Amino acid sequence: MNHLMARAVLRRLAGGRTSNSYVSSSSSSPFHEMRFGESAPLLRGRGLGFVGGEQWGRTMSTATRRKVGVAEKEREGRAATDEKKKTEEGGGTAVSSYWGISRPKITKEDGTVWPWNCFLPWETYQSNLSIDLRKHHVPKTFLDKVAFRTVKILRVPTDIMFKRRYGCRAMMLETVAAVPGMVGGMLLHLRSLRKFQQSGGWIKALLEEAENERMHLMTMVELVQPKWYERLLVLTVQGVFFNGFFVLYLLSPKLAHRIVGYLEEEAIHSYTEYLRDIDDGKIENVPAPAISIDYWRLPKDATLKDVITVIRADEAHHRDVNHFASDIHYEGKELREAPAPLGYH
Ligand SMILES: [Fe+2]
Ligand SMILES: [Fe+2]
Repeated sequence: MNHLMARAVLRRLAGGRTSNSYVSSSSSSPFHEMRFGESAPLLRGRGLGFVGGEQWGRTMSTATRRKVGVAEKEREGRAATDEKKKTEEGGGTAVSSYWGISRPKITKEDGTVWPWNCFLPWETYQSNLSIDLRKHHVPKTFLDKVAFRTVKILRVPTDIMFKRRYGCRAMMLETVAAVPGMVGGMLLHLRSLRKFQQSGGWIKALLEEAENERMHLMTMVELVQPKWYERLLVLTVQGVFFNGFFVLYLLSPKLAHRIVGYLEEEAIHSYTEYLRDIDDGKIENVPAPAISIDYWRLPKDATLKDVITVIRADEAHHRDVNHFASDIHYEGKELREAPAPLGYH
């Protein structure tokens, strides 16, 4: 009872609205509704890296942020209760709250509601399909050879376990591939805090890589449903790999990035085999999952082959980024001394 009374008092303090108010995006404020394409100028501000014809701002200009701040203050005064309306507008799960937290209503170019909460239109991109897939870093130093051999050895159990079940193989490997970027980004983040230093953009670059790899996984999961023992394997492998890579990155980021570079080379090889099996008709070229069409800005009639092609291009980009990062360390420098390759994802 006290709890309910406290909530009622808070609602009144927050703006005098009744429980009929919404945290939804139905406000008349222009900042509550964004249309993919139409309202892009609203978000164009700092001119950060974009890829593809659709130029989306990832952040807002100072003036826009000020306006958004005013809009946010207006919105803070509203209570959130109407789950039905929010579900209709956002297509997602509505959570009752009096905190005034809500995502702006975002629509696609065709006016339909943007269906994803996990990524937004300005985070989508077109893969660079012209990237050289055959590039290889020839191992010369002792550490390079260790990295190369380690990856080749790791490939053996993977080949035995999955053989040519590339969907399953890709899904399982993506659960591992999304770890190094997060570990590296996290450690650079902590280093930046400890040393009062900028990171040169590398924190963001590595976290972007981790996010991109996770999106590969989210896509693969739409195509292949993991079995219970595969989920168990992921738990075990993640426990070992996260901790192992964490220690390795602390000891030798040079070796850690080189290993990831070679892992990405193997990923390119695996996805090339995957595409070959699709071309040969051994794997059905099913329609692409909706999440992949929006994330990579693929045509509506895109297929599995298109999805694997863009994922492979992403892997080639990760390969280059990680070999580059290793090379920076080989030159006796820190990553922050070389501008990070931001803006691809
Ligand atoms: Fe990946
Ligand atoms: Fe990758």
